[in-house]
Amino acid sequence: MTTTAGPSSHDVADLSLAEEGDRLIAWAAREMPVLGLIRERFERERPLAGLRLGACLHVTSETANLAITLRAGGADVRLCASNPLSTQDPVAAALAARHGVPTFAVRGEDSARYFDHINAVLDHRPQLTMDDGADLVAELHKSRTELLPDVLAGTEETTTGVIRLRAMAADGALRFPIVAVNEALTKHMFDNRYGTGQSTLDGLIRATNVLLAGKNLVVCGYGWCGRGLASRAAGHGAHVVVTEVDPVRALEAAMDGYRVMTLAEAAPTADFIVTVTGDINVIDRRHFELVKDGCIVANSGHFNDEINLAALDDGRHPTPAFRGVLPAARRPHRQRARPGAPGQPGGGRGAPRGGHGHVLRQPGPLRRVRGPPPRGAGAPRLRRARGDRPGHRRPQAAQHGDRHRRAHRRAAPLSRVLGIGHVLKPRVTFP
Ligand SMILES: NC(=O)c1ccc[n+]([C@@H]2O[C@H](COP(=O)([O-])OP(=O)(O)OC[C@H]3O[C@@H](n4cnc5c(N)ncnc54)[C@H](O)[C@@H]3O)[C@@H](O)[C@H]2O)c1
Repeated sequence: MTTTAGPSSHDVADLSLAEEGDRLIAWAAREMPVLGLIRERFERERPLAGLRLGACLHVTSETANLAITLRAGGADVRLCASNPLSTQDPVAAALAARHGVPTFAVRGEDSARYFDHINAVLDHRPQLTMDDGADLVAELHKSRTELLPDVLAGTEETTTGVIRLRAMAADGALRFPIVAVNEALTKHMFDNRYGTGQSTLDGLIRATNVLLAGKNLVVCGYGWCGRGLASRAAGHGAHVVVTEVDPVRALEAAMDGYRVMTLAEAAPTADFIVTVTGDINVIDRRHFELVKDGCIVANSGHFNDEINLAALDDGRHPTPAFRGVLPAARRPHRQRARPGAPGQPGGGRGAPRGGHGHVLRQPGPLRRVRGPPPRGAGAPRLRRARGDRPGHRRPQAAQHGDRHRRAHRRAAPLSRVLGIGHVLKPRVTFP
């Protein structure tokens, strides 16, 4: 670890890795030609000259190219990690030592250091923010409110971050406008679907070295990420089952050729279960009690609370198989696992993970679409959910999940988002 104070401060694992980091950055640049064009233009036009920019992003070779481009545009950039497990230490070292980007990121950092790093970025009094998961913005609104008047605007990359911010905007709590990058077609249709589809499988294969062909692989959530994952897993020869709470998306999955059922139905025969929903406790205690020995569970959603890790670790499951939860990769080298409890990254020290104050339960009707049984035929049919009984008090964690879902519904349409802060749909124009 290296830590220095002052304007060129940084906290990275090992500055001697900088040369390796530069090789990774150059390799990624080959796949980012548009960013290269923007960088050339930025060098000429310097549109960000003099602006302080605080970024909380995955500290990877791709982000490094972005940070270098922003600097070329004149921005005074500081960077910290948006996920303790995705940081590439050589890249962090290269940014700090060779590219003039004060970087605060150490792979595997604990929760306290993670938030210290966010605060090190905020100490720079950013006028622009860039976030992936909304932890920076949440910390700004919760613990560093004195900095808010300086902030002009921000960006948010991922689905879950946009949901959190929309909830803040709907509550009138968001204090500056944020561009929801995830809503750009060129983001969610491509990064989420093809990028996450590939990287999740890449993570599973690297971590387990298990053949996918002929295996039962359950994808929880048939959104942009889930459909990419499902199609790539099928391409590897896996028998793909989809679970989905949105009936239309469930029907879509069924018509795309996947078996659709509840997780309770799919779990007993699953070889892999992968969550990618943005929801909480998607794989819960009752599912751990159903899975067979050797079942591999992984999360590719933004926070790792999609898997109830507390239930997994409570000692009630003696089978070693239960100990093998995989933090699935976001992209190659981008492992993700996000503790969601308060005080943990993603839990945000009580950060508004979906707005403030309200607890609302997911309405029950038509919660799941059920497909034909594994070896049978027949049309998918709708059925009523068993959960969400009126008057049934759910654990705090589940209530957080409800806020996510509530936020999802409340946030649209954007024209109705009120308050000082707005979540804006990016508009891309081509020359
Ligand atoms: N790993 C990565 O590289 C990567 C990339 C982009 C986004 N993400 C994250 O992945 C998650 C999903 O993103 P997305 O863009 O696919 O979102 P999305 O909103 O398009 O899809 C999520 C789907 O999950 C479904 N769902 C919600 N709760 C469920 C449950 N309990 N069981 C089954 N299905 C459920 C929803 O109905 C929805 O169809 C988010 O947390 C997002 O931030 C990860």
